[in-house]
Amino acid sequence: MARIQIGALRKTYPGARADTLHGIDLSIEDGEMAVLVGPSGCGKSTLLRMIAGLESVTDGEIRIGDRLVNQLEPAERDIAMVFQNYALYPHMTVRGNLEYGLKNRRTPRAEIDARVTEAARVLEIEPFLDRKPQALSGGQRQRVAMGRAIVRKPQAFLFDEPLSNLDARLRGQMRVEIRRLQRRFATTSIYVTHDQLEAMTMADKLVVMNAGRIEQVGSPMDLFETPRSLFVAGFIGAPGMNLLPVEDLRASGADLTGLPGTTSVVGIRPEHLLPDATGAWMALHVTVDAVELVGSETLVHLGAAGLSAPLVLRQPGAARLAPGMPLRVGLPRQHLHCFDAHGLRIAQDSTDPALRELESRLDALR
Ligand SMILES: Nc1ncnc2c1ncn2[C@@H]1O[C@H](COP(=O)(O)OP(=O)(O)OP(=O)(O)O)[C@@H](O)[C@H]1O
Ligand SMILES: [Mg+2]
Repeated sequence: MARIQIGALRKTYPGARADTLHGIDLSIEDGEMAVLVGPSGCGKSTLLRMIAGLESVTDGEIRIGDRLVNQLEPAERDIAMVFQNYALYPHMTVRGNLEYGLKNRRTPRAEIDARVTEAARVLEIEPFLDRKPQALSGGQRQRVAMGRAIVRKPQAFLFDEPLSNLDARLRGQMRVEIRRLQRRFATTSIYVTHDQLEAMTMADKLVVMNAGRIEQVGSPMDLFETPRSLFVAGFIGAPGMNLLPVEDLRASGADLTGLPGTTSVVGIRPEHLLPDATGAWMALHVTVDAVELVGSETLVHLGAAGLSAPLVLRQPGAARLAPGMPLRVGLPRQHLHCFDAHGLRIAQDSTDPALRELESRLDALR
């Protein structure tokens, strides 16, 4: 088990016009689960493959434990990678697949048997040990792929969208399963995903990437509550944060008194928008466009003259709202995220003194 440290890591693919990674600094502590998220093409797989040794390093450093591994072959790095398509050997049985990496490393027979038995038990794949992969379901194949990583007892696990081929129910199960195994073995891990829920629930450390750079690193709740850029604000959370340009707010008649002067975009999460603006500091007149009842909650899409994008309001249970209904929604001050013209978060302490004063007067009334 080991800490992974990445310093000023750069990648330029041969013949490419621009860098794919522009200098990544990241450290993942011993036993920690780091989750990488970001749009397609932002460099997540490239970063993972460089750590695994499947791609060369253009510049910068990768350390696993106390070793600089830049020049080491994948086999010398003592890392196990779990891929989206499982990459199982189709002509070998499940047992053969589990043993393969150990045999390659000339692990003694008794040790191989002990490790395979243990992994098969933990993963509940004992009944399939003598089957070939094509005779398994997607979830079972995924567990074999996980087993192949576990038996090697590597320094680190790397996962590249391991669950993206599975249906929603199985994804949910495997998400919990992988996290449980990762905790049990306390193996340092990096997990790449597109899935919001996986990112939020599995990460000790969540890393948001954008166009070859890291936008923000922190605990999932840090990033959710204090996104440091518009990009992170829009990326973390499903449905995403409502992002309202101040011109739109002005055009829809909102009173902007007290917003920090440099505010260019105001963000508010769907669950923080109030269906009734009574007593709220900022209010907007809107009309219900669509109502989606999603089982335990309702997503209400709202439009208004002056708003360039619809607003989404999220309420527990079934909201008694119908398309066409007028509403006056409230934007509570304490839940607003303000961003400047560069898309960067404006810190709370730089809030306009006029607003603080207004807030304290409101507080006296609450
Ligand atoms: N072997 C390669 N040669 C040249 N360019 C490459 C190579 N592999 C990836 N790229 C480019 O590098 C960029 C990052 O690719 P990468 O696969 O790391 O993205 P990603 O974040 O994993 O995306 P996705 O979410 O779609 O899997 C892309 O623009 C891609 O086209
Ligand atoms: Mg990828």
